[in-house]
Formats: sequence, C-alpha cells, structure tokens
Amino acid sequence: MPNEIILESQNLRREFGALVAVDDVSLQVTAGSLHSIIGPNGAGKTTFFNLLSGNIPPTSGRVLLRGKNITNLPLHKTAHLGIGRSFQITNIFPNLTVLENIRLAAQALGRDNFRLFRSHRAFTKYEDRAWEVIEQVGLADEAMLLARTLPHGAQRKLELGMILAPDPEILLLDEPTAGMASEQVPELMALIQKIQAAGHKTVMLVEHNMNVVMNVSDTITVMHHGGVLAEGTPAEISANETVQTAYLGHLYEETS
Ligand SMILES: Nc1ncnc2c1ncn2[C@@H]1O[C@H](COP(=O)(O)OP(=O)(O)O)[C@@H](O)[C@H]1O
Ligand SMILES: [Mg+2]
Repeated sequence: MPNEIILESQNLRREFGALVAVDDVSLQVTAGSLHSIIGPNGAGKTTFFNLLSGNIPPTSGRVLLRGKNITNLPLHKTAHLGIGRSFQITNIFPNLTVLENIRLAAQALGRDNFRLFRSHRAFTKYEDRAWEVIEQVGLADEAMLLARTLPHGAQRKLELGMILAPDPEILLLDEPTAGMASEQVPELMALIQKIQAAGHKTVMLVEHNMNVVMNVSDTITVMHHGGVLAEGTPAEISANETVQTAYLGHLYEETS
C-alpha cells in the first residue's frame, strides 16, 4: 500500500525529573522510507528512539506500529514485531569473529535458540543467514577475523549486519557513522540506502550532522530541545529559514 504509515508516535513524552527530554512528539513514518531525525547533541533523539523501541517507557503518549498500540512493550517484544535498533554503544562481542557475531544476532530472534545447535538443520539455517548478511554488508573478506581486530569502519558495518541479521522490517539506527573517518561516511550511508531499497525496509536514522543524511533521506525531522522544529524533504529542510537560523548556525559552530 503506497504511503502506508508503519510507525507513529502520538504526543510522545519523556521526562527525566524536571527535564523534558522528548516533548510531546507526534511523528509518522511512511513504510519503505528513509526517515532521518537530526538535531544537536541533547535534542532528545536517542531518547526518542528509546521510546519507539521500548527500551524505556514514556511519561505519556503512544507508539503505534501499523496502527497497533505498542506503547509499553519492552525491547525484546518490539524486536519480535520487526523493529531492529542499534545503540550508540556497541553490541559487538569483541572476542568472537564477524561470522559468529552475525550468526548469534540471527539466532537471537529464532524460535530454537534454547536448543542451541542441537539440530544440525538449525545451525545451517543461521550459518546461511549469517553469510547472506556478511555479503550484503561487504564483510566477506573479514568474516573469520575477531571483531576486535577490525578497523573502525568495518566494525560499523558489523553492527549494521547484526541489526540486519534477524531481518527486521524497521531499522532504527542511532548515529551509525559515529566515530568514522569522514571519508568513509558516504560508503556506509550508501550501504544503508542499498539495504533499505533492496529489502523494502523502513529505516529511521538519527544523526547530528545534517550533511550526512541530506542526500539519502526521503523525510527529515529536525528535533530541538525535545520538540519537532521542522519536518520535510531534504530540499524543504535546507530551505527552511527557522531551521537555518535556529539550528544550523549552532550546529556548524558545534561540529566545526
Ligand atoms: N537516563 C537519563 N537520565 C537523565 N537524563 C537523561 C537520560 N537520558 C537522556 N537524558 C537527557 O535528555 C536529554 C536528551 O538526551 P538524548 O536523547 O541523549 O539526546 P541526543 O541523542 O539528541 O543527543 C539530554 O539533556 C540528556 O542529558
Ligand atoms: Mg544521541
């Protein structure tokens, strides 16, 4: 169905004591789109993702997945409903290989994870899935290397592979290029776009640098002090005067 809303927040709010980290955010994500949330550090982006994925409960408001209320479902339940998310802090097992990390991520949502490898068929299934994902994220040459020996750029690809492994319908990526050398950023963004288009996936991406998401996003939501400052296509956002005056100036000061 074209323009189907797959994920929606309604007046979603999260307070930490007196601080309003997410201030009644209402937002709709179209199925199959790449929807970016940008905003300076402290804008509430990560907290918003935590609320969408069920990592923390909201103070008030609702989260809907295809119109169904999923507001107070915990992380493992939303994962089973097809929402995969990354964390700013890495989930990689450093002393396992790339293949082992991705295989574990694939079987984490499988039904037979309590009978680990008892059945050869189950093992083969996850092994096959892991190789598929390894090809997709371009880590075939590194598959047998220990994760901790990977260069930073390859570690970010591994994280992407680990989110992709259980084949989620929606990917929530929190600053997937964090810490990467700037010349490697376009390659990772192109990979994310390819994964989205090829798998008909919905991707939500948090980023503090607007330039990173400008060329790949269908929709950009600008967050500021917990609220939504503006939303639109990349062209609309770059032409938006409120965004330029209230936000861009500060951002470039902050990151330069
Ligand atoms: N667990 C927490 N306890 C208290 N304050 C928090 C917590 N998590 C986030 N905050 C605060 O909420 C605001 C938004 O943070 P965050 O969502 O991490 O922003 P962003 O991801 O946009 O940088 C910040 O002021 C931050 O200090
Ligand atoms: Mg953050």
